[in-house]
Amino acid sequence: MPLAALDFQLADESATCALAQALALAWTQHPAPRLLITLEGDLGAGKTTFARAFLRALGVQGRIKSPSFSLVEEYTIDIPDLQFKGTLRTTAYHIDLYRFSDPQEWEDSGLRDVVGGPGISLVEWPQRALGLLPAADLTVHLEPAAERRHCIVQAATEVGSTLLHALPERLESG
Ligand SMILES: Nc1ncnc2c1ncn2[C@@H]1O[C@H](COP(=O)(O)OP(=O)(O)O)[C@@H](O)[C@H]1O
Ligand SMILES: [Mg+2]
Repeated sequence: MPLAALDFQLADESATCALAQALALAWTQHPAPRLLITLEGDLGAGKTTFARAFLRALGVQGRIKSPSFSLVEEYTIDIPDLQFKGTLRTTAYHIDLYRFSDPQEWEDSGLRDVVGGPGISLVEWPQRALGLLPAADLTVHLEPAAERRHCIVQAATEVGSTLLHALPERLESG
């Protein structure tokens, strides 16, 4: 895999949103049937902010609730497919595992099938299902310092690497 990780300094919330948007738009150019992005960082690091901007960029309208209580929020994604001049249709799952305390909860939740199946999964607090969650295509790690966020995006699959590769150019073109 040629490109494994990139570092970003995100000066404010809009910079975090711009990064998430760039990643989402990169996916629309290189859509894969299944995408798993894990979001790491402490409470308030910006994981939900990132996920919301990602979903908005894929055309999600209306309120995007934090899944910290519901565990998972599901969205239908319908976007124009530039390559085939049709519609790209998929499902996005926004998941928050913060309240998980033991592995049995992962088994009982049914999330194994959700995350392992077709669609886009954005998972906050993946550490809560360490060793249970399949390997993420991309891991986004957010580290707060006042308003700024130090962000590391790491790719662990070919799909992730392709998206990571497309990021710098996408961010420059705004
Ligand atoms: N650079 C930044 N990136 C993301 N969020 C930021 C940034 N600067 C300030 N914030 C604020 O930090 C908070 C992040 O909250 P949230 O996204 O819910 O975090 P998490 O889901 O990681 O607990 C929001 O209130 C957001 O406005
Ligand atoms: Mg959150």
